[in-house]
Amino acid sequence: MSILVLGATGFIGPRLIKKLVARGETVVGMDLNPAAPTFDGSPIGAPVLRGDVTQFEDVMRTVLEVKPERLINLAYGLGAGEGNPHQVMRLDVLGMDNCFEAARLGGVRRIVYASSVAVSGQQSSFGDRLVNEDDPTHGTSQYAYGMSITGVRPANVTGPDKVRGSTDHVQIMTEGARGRPVHLPKKGLMRLLIHVEDMAEVFARILLADAPRHELYNSGGIPVSLGELADIVRGFLPKAEITFAEEGGREDSGNYLVDWSRLSKEFGIEYPGLHTRVLEVINDVRRVEGLPLVGA
Ligand SMILES: NC(=O)c1ccc[n+]([C@@H]2O[C@H](COP(=O)([O-])OP(=O)(O)OC[C@H]3O[C@@H](n4cnc5c(N)ncnc54)[C@H](O)[C@@H]3O)[C@@H](O)[C@H]2O)c1
Repeated sequence: MSILVLGATGFIGPRLIKKLVARGETVVGMDLNPAAPTFDGSPIGAPVLRGDVTQFEDVMRTVLEVKPERLINLAYGLGAGEGNPHQVMRLDVLGMDNCFEAARLGGVRRIVYASSVAVSGQQSSFGDRLVNEDDPTHGTSQYAYGMSITGVRPANVTGPDKVRGSTDHVQIMTEGARGRPVHLPKKGLMRLLIHVEDMAEVFARILLADAPRHELYNSGGIPVSLGELADIVRGFLPKAEITFAEEGGREDSGNYLVDWSRLSKEFGIEYPGLHTRVLEVINDVRRVEGLPLVGA
């Protein structure tokens, strides 16, 4: 089998390559420093091409040349982030993305990447117990040094002018408001809606908080099927032409049951009811279109 090892001449790479070659695999390495000597001076036993994983062209060219069936990426900046977090982030994040994309385009069937125990952070975060792969991560390296970094996971953000990402829920309201027909594939598809104003408020509160208690917050929102949303729109616009190709879709839905109690408890966030927000979106669109507003 043909295997490409990125980050081939570091600490682990040469040993991995030797093991693969000993098992009869056809291995090619790539590294920024292809001629680095091995610990015991013995040859790696496979060709190592020069290439930089942060340069997509280098990774793509190598994948096209080697045509690997499998690929492993070991080229990261290990323990080097404190002094130069920007460069190491580029290496770790952009480099890995380059590998995924080149592998996808090159038809690679399997990729392995090296993560690190460092993602778990301090043992004290867990007490005196084993940590498994499903446990939360508390990594404190790279940019987390001396800086508070808080993540927010928005649900399906909705509003009158959304054009990227999930937009089926938007079309139901905005096309309905314009008096245009909407036809969508699945009536039962669930969305977890949060109005863009509410989303902006969540970001504002978390950004302005001196010391958020958590590193990550779900925005949460209001779960609704597209069919139910269409019914709410028809409540305001009885003539709205909203049709679906099929009834089902619930099983194809993204995560719509989300615990966002962290956010609601710590920041006192409450979202207005969906009817209120749907009416707002409809009238926002009708105002822009010069159409008469509809009432509650
Ligand atoms: N060794 C450990 O203790 C350990 C622990 C946890 C995780 N890991 C993970 O496994 C990976 C491999 O470990 P290692 O000890 O062999 O690391 P290493 O630092 O010895 O090897 C990394 C290799 O990647 C190469 N490289 C760096 N930047 C590059 C770039 N831009 N393009 C191409 N190549 C580049 C380096 O020249 C080096 O040969 C680590 O980077 C780390 O993410 C290792």
